[in-house]
Parts: sequence; C-alpha cells; structure tokens
Amino acid sequence: MGNTLPEIGAGPELLAGLPAGFRWGVATSSYQIEGAATEDGRTPSIWDTYCRVPGMVHNGDNGDVACDHYHRMPEDVQLIKSLEVDTYRFSVAWPRIQPHGGGPVNPKGIGFYDRLVDELLAGGIDPWLTLYHWDLPQELEDAGGWPARDTAYRFADYAMLVFDALHDRVRHWTTLNEPWCSAMLGYHQGRQAPGRQDFGAAMHAVHHLLLGHGLATQRMRAADPDADFCITLNMSQHEPATDSLADREAARREDGLAVRIYLDPLVHGRYPADVVEDLAARNVVLPVQDGDLEIISTPIDTLGVNYYFTSLTSGVAEDGSTVDSDGNPVSREVRLGRRVTEMDWEIVPEGFTALLTRLARDYPGLPMVITENGSAWADEPDEQGFVKDNDRTEYFADHIAAVSAAVRAGADVRGYFAWSLMDNLEWSYGYAKRFGLVHVDFETQVRTPKASAYWYRDTIRRARAAHE
Ligand code: FCB
Repeated sequence: MGNTLPEIGAGPELLAGLPAGFRWGVATSSYQIEGAATEDGRTPSIWDTYCRVPGMVHNGDNGDVACDHYHRMPEDVQLIKSLEVDTYRFSVAWPRIQPHGGGPVNPKGIGFYDRLVDELLAGGIDPWLTLYHWDLPQELEDAGGWPARDTAYRFADYAMLVFDALHDRVRHWTTLNEPWCSAMLGYHQGRQAPGRQDFGAAMHAVHHLLLGHGLATQRMRAADPDADFCITLNMSQHEPATDSLADREAARREDGLAVRIYLDPLVHGRYPADVVEDLAARNVVLPVQDGDLEIISTPIDTLGVNYYFTSLTSGVAEDGSTVDSDGNPVSREVRLGRRVTEMDWEIVPEGFTALLTRLARDYPGLPMVITENGSAWADEPDEQGFVKDNDRTEYFADHIAAVSAAVRAGADVRGYFAWSLMDNLEWSYGYAKRFGLVHVDFETQVRTPKASAYWYRDTIRRARAAHE
C-alpha cells in the first residue's frame, strides 16, 4: 500500500494501556465473501435458500459470486498482508466440508482452507478459524435445524473433520459466531436464514447451539489440548431507558436473553434462574438433558466479543401498554439520540467500554478478543476508485480508544479485529451496506483499500512501536 493519509482520531489515549503482543486483525465470513456457491461439491446452505425467498434479501442479492474470494484467495491474502495485521479471522463453509450436511470430508472443500491456511502462514499471518458463521447445510435445516438436538452432534462431527485436517497449523478455533443471531434472528424474528418465527424454537436453538459448541470444544480439546478455543458472542450493554420498574425489568430480560443465557452456562455451567422463569411464563422450557451443562461449560480460552452499537430498553410500548398483542411483556429499543451509521445503528463507543468492563467483572478470568467491530457508510469512490471514508476511520478510532479505556480499567482484552477486510454480502441487506476497509467493485471485483485501511495499518504500526 502507498502513502499515509492525514491522521484522524489519533488522540493520545487511542492506544494507551494496550499490552505488548496485542493482536490486530481483520475478519470475514465464508458466505459473505467466497462465492463459488456450487463449486467443488459445495451444496446449498440455509443462506442460499433464504436469499431466494422473494423479499427477504435486499435487491434479491445472494452469495453466488460475492467477492469471488474462492478464486482470488492468494490475491486477498496479499491484501491482508498489506494491512500489516497479524491475524486473519475467517470462517469455514460447512456445506463445502460435508456436502448435503453429512458424510466424510470432501477433499476439494477442505483443500481450499488448507491452501488458505498455508498462504496465510507463508505471509506471517495467524489464521483464526470460525467453524460456524451461519451457513448451515440446508439438509440439516430440513431435518429440524438448530431447534433439533441432533444438529449439535452433527456440528461436533463436522468440527472434528476440520480440526483433524488443520489443527497442525491453526491454533485459534472459534466454534460459533453470534449464536444470538442464529437463534433470535433466524428462528424467532425471521430476519435471517432460515427465516422462521417461533420463539420456543429459537430457545431450543439457543440450547442446541451451546451444546454443539460444548461437544465440539470437548472433542477438539481432547485431540489437542494446546489449541486455543473460543466462542464469539455479539453483545451490548442493556440499560433501562428510565428508572421505572417496567424499564428496569425489560432491560434485565434483554440482558438475560442476549448476554447471560450464553455466558452463564458457558462459564458457570447453569442457566440464569430469572431467564428460566421468564421463559416459563411464556411456556418455554429449555430442552436441557442430564450432563448437557457440564458439556457446555467445557473450558474455553478466549471469549470473542462482537460489538456494533448500544441502545436503551423500555418495557413500555409507544401506546403506554406493558404487554404486547400476545400477552408477553414489552421490550422496546429506545434511542440515545446519537449519530447513526448506514445500518441505522447508533454510534456509542462508551457503551463498548461499559460492556467490556462489565464482562470482566461478571465473568472474570476469561480473556477477551474483539472478533468484530466496524461500521457501514455510503462510500463514494472517486474516479480512481478511492474512498475517503473519514466516518469509518473515526468510528474505528473511537472504538479502539474505547477498548483501550476498558483495558486501563482492568478488562483483559488481547486483540481487536476490524469488520471487515472488504465490502461483502451484508446478509439481508445484500451488497448495499459496505463495511470494508477495502472497497470492492462488485462488477469488476477490483479491490481498492480505502483511507481507513491506511489509517488502520498506521495505527497498528504505532501500537507495535509503543512496545519496541
Ligand atoms: C455481525 C456478523 C457479521 C457482519 C456484521 C456487520 O452480526 O457477524 O457477519 O454481518 O454483523
């Protein structure tokens, strides 16, 4: 990459307190970048199916071609290298490894990741592998999906196929990306694949996602205790909009369903009693069998934290009622009144600091890595295709500063991965929302680093220089 651009958000506090050896990375996921949807034996995932349901994905977009990363991988690894990051977080597409969702490893499918890992290592970049970033083989959804217990066992089998092939070179293993999204957006709200709308099914999905994580971690750890095991959760602070009892209760419930229903069983080996009670009031019982919680609480080495925004919670609807049309208590998102990104997400860096210090307090002894953080903007390339994305740079600067502040306050955060390496398929928003450090022209597949990419590279240089 060429010249350095003017510095933005480079206040003295930006990196203060970040430890030596702090990891810097960029992140992507398989379906969002790979394309080659039918190549080398890959079969459809729930996202291939969902993208074809009219009205579900903006503009009818899909991941058939995406960033064509499957064919441009060596070039993309050079791009990653030019950013001077030390870590690349990517995910493996389950339907490439087990076409149709079962059976032995597909040599061509695993071959792609084998080459990717070698290419990364040759470039001095540490691979950080996520096993599941939402692309469930369609056949497993047809058999019941995550609400079905068997999916957890299928996931552990799949995990071992990937682990056996790559653990000699990959040290960092993340089981799941954002199970909240898989369960709540996929099975309750229907806003992501597979698009079901059934709260009870979503809660069963939560338990089976966690069980799948635990089964896979147990087996991988037994095979190689030295590897580093992680799960990535998307989280934010859930503060009440006012001090009223209704708002405080709504915030407690939201925190229960977004943070504690995952971290309490993972760390403490039990579901939170108040969440279990809330669910009972909705006639939902988590399908826990004997021994499940021991499996789920198999030790992990790192908690992956994805953070994007914060809002407040109210338990009172606009019309003043505290129950919805189904008789369930209201939980409504209330804005803080901050500036928003193209996703309409409020920019609240101090919410990030608050979240990290809270996690450090409630779940001590669990090192954290920021596995995703970033923002979408209406990028406008100039005639050379260059994007001067000061808004994105400012977002990164403010949020890296928020991480540093949390570290100074005692949170054990060991790395930061920007979302995303390059513009890609933003799920239901299609290609319309751009999160990349690198601009992608989806007509020509030309990649052009944005101003934020140069800023990020220089920030990483500064962070390292501070410890020389
Ligand atoms: C997260 C997803 C990631 C990306 C960002 C913007 O929820 O993990 O794939 O879409 O949001």
